[in-house]
Amino acid sequence: MTGFRTFSDFVGLKNFIKQLPRSVSIGLVPTMGALHVGHISLIKRALSENAFVVVTLFVNPKQFNKSSDLINYPRVQEEDIKLLNSFDRLGLCIPEEQDVYPVDDPYQRVELGLLDQVLEGEFRPGHFDGVAHVVHNLIQLIKPKRAYFGLKDAQQLAVIKLMVRSTQLPVQVVACETVRDAGGLALSSRNSLLSKEKIIASLVIYKTLTFVKDNVRIIGAEETKKQAAALFSNSSLTLEYIGLVNRDSFQPFYDSDPHGLCCIAAYCDGVRLIDNVLF
Ligand code: PAJ
Repeated sequence: MTGFRTFSDFVGLKNFIKQLPRSVSIGLVPTMGALHVGHISLIKRALSENAFVVVTLFVNPKQFNKSSDLINYPRVQEEDIKLLNSFDRLGLCIPEEQDVYPVDDPYQRVELGLLDQVLEGEFRPGHFDGVAHVVHNLIQLIKPKRAYFGLKDAQQLAVIKLMVRSTQLPVQVVACETVRDAGGLALSSRNSLLSKEKIIASLVIYKTLTFVKDNVRIIGAEETKKQAAALFSNSSLTLEYIGLVNRDSFQPFYDSDPHGLCCIAAYCDGVRLIDNVLF
């Protein structure tokens, strides 16, 4: 169980897991690769809570609603392996599409309701169906005790929690804090597609989120959103949406709600960035 190993399909991974003692807890960290410190924080958390951790690297075509986005998605497998191979008790699985979506696919589509209609749901039709599908199949095939996801993708996390509840998968979903660079920009695989100047320009996302967090309880949601959009409009980024919602239901935020979430999606130089803050 010690050391680092790679698996190119689920057969090898399942054979390996089968020979582990039954009591060994497995943590799963699904990723699409181009790994960064944000992913590593999930892996470290999983290693601290489980005897063995499986990281999957699969660029899931079903969750890309634009084919150009799928084509341009960064793929740096060699570097990803280098980044992980010093870890102990870690298995990296890089499956093929037919492994993840077998002919006798076990997924029965879950109705995502509002989560599929607002914010990311509105602007990326079909995206969350693809996310729910792939995460379901990974959990169903690997059977981890716990699965780890970042709050960076807060709506994705809500979708996964709903899918797990609806399909009654016996897994604990663990939410992990967003990791940011020194200026506050949330780490993302897509950041590697940006120049240094554009990275600096993108800091406006975190500045705007911080403005919302600091002001919403004082001046209210409507006024905060107006001022936040004005703040954002001084930047070179193109705002797709800024939304204030309840962090669980994704219903519109109302002023006395203690569980607020502000989400932003914006384009910087053609690269789509998302981030959020809880308040
Ligand atoms: P990917 O973008 O590779 O992210 C994998 C996991 O890392 C997700 O749970 C994401 O929320 C988390 N993550 C990304 N950036 C982070 C950051 N800066 N801080 C903390 N966590 C961060 O999200 C996906 O892949 C896919 O949709 C996936 C769940 C793998 C399904 O295909």
